[in-house]
Amino acid sequence: MDNYLEHYQGRSVLVTGGAGAIGSNLTRRLTELGAQVVILDDLSSSERWNVPSLPGILFVEGDILDEVKLKRVFFERPRMVFHLAAFFANQNSVDHPERDLMVNGMGTLRLLEYSVFTGVERFIYASSGCSIYGSESPIPLREEFMSMYLSTPYQITKMLGELYCNFFHNHYGLKVVKPRFFNSYGPGEIPGQYRNVIPNFIYWAMKGLSLPITGTGEETRDFTYVGDIVDGLLRGGAMEIAIGQEFNIASGKETKIIDLANMINEAVGNKAGIRFTGRRKWDTKPRLLAAIDRAREFIGYEHKTPLEVGLRNTIHWFQKYWKQIQDSARFGPGTSSAVREMIDKGSYGK
Ligand SMILES: NC(=O)c1ccc[n+]([C@@H]2O[C@H](COP(=O)([O-])OP(=O)(O)OC[C@H]3O[C@@H](n4cnc5c(N)ncnc54)[C@H](O)[C@@H]3O)[C@@H](O)[C@H]2O)c1
Repeated sequence: MDNYLEHYQGRSVLVTGGAGAIGSNLTRRLTELGAQVVILDDLSSSERWNVPSLPGILFVEGDILDEVKLKRVFFERPRMVFHLAAFFANQNSVDHPERDLMVNGMGTLRLLEYSVFTGVERFIYASSGCSIYGSESPIPLREEFMSMYLSTPYQITKMLGELYCNFFHNHYGLKVVKPRFFNSYGPGEIPGQYRNVIPNFIYWAMKGLSLPITGTGEETRDFTYVGDIVDGLLRGGAMEIAIGQEFNIASGKETKIIDLANMINEAVGNKAGIRFTGRRKWDTKPRLLAAIDRAREFIGYEHKTPLEVGLRNTIHWFQKYWKQIQDSARFGPGTSSAVREMIDKGSYGK
């Protein structure tokens, strides 16, 4: 198990969504390990400045639905595909359900087809814990359980991607792996209207705004540091035992949103506190906590980064790139209820 990192030396790897929050971290690590990386990303939810400029990376800007771009990146003969590009995420899919289906459904299908046609050796699909288990699953969430009662188009199409992976594995023998991520956070995620709670809280805290909690604050999430997610991906990409499997890649710990907000305000020195706003209708999960036993047993995965350390690293990244982050952070109409309220009150951006 320990030599899985050597697997990437000299390997040609396609990372779709490689400019994104997780993809940019994965790409950097792959390059450090000696892989030749091709990125396909249309920059719809990321920025060019977030793509590592390192030797060994070929960046192709384009849509995973664009056949010309697909031919371009598969011309590089990748041996492995990490398929991370996705229409992100829940609220965005509620606002734009058809685009969500095209990117997460058709886009994933195209990637799988090209992978079979070109003899890709391993296809790693970025699945999502919040999409598979619904709101009624027993806690902690285990891989054996799945729900048919999902609350957003994103959850439906991310599950669809797993189902297509299963089909391509069973029918064509494509070696698929399906890590299910939980609440990723860390350096590389630019805040914005459809982004996750941690980058948005840090952004608002650094602007001296109160942090809006959409609910009671007692809701919990399983926050997973991006470096640990990348390690789970690399393990799943290299180890034989992972083929055909799904794994929770999570921290295995619950954090209340109110505690998270207080931690971030304290770490940033924000005195504006917190405030409560309406819960979003689709946000039906009072708790998210993953069991990580299967990932631990099969691929030796451990979550190593405590939340305090991960938040410190993330805040450090915000401070370093504050100017670019301020220029890039996009909030606007059609946004989550919390942000919409700030815009209505004229407090956003002040
Ligand atoms: N972040 C999380 O908490 C989380 C949790 C579970 C699953 N996931 C999955 O992990 C993957 C990566 O998530 P992330 O947080 O890095 O998201 P992200 O939005 O930061 O990254 C996705 C990238 O895909 C690109 N993209 C979107 N549509 C595209 C298209 N049509 N063609 C080409 N590129 C396109 C975006 O520009 C972006 O760079 C996604 O598949 C997501 O569903 C993420």
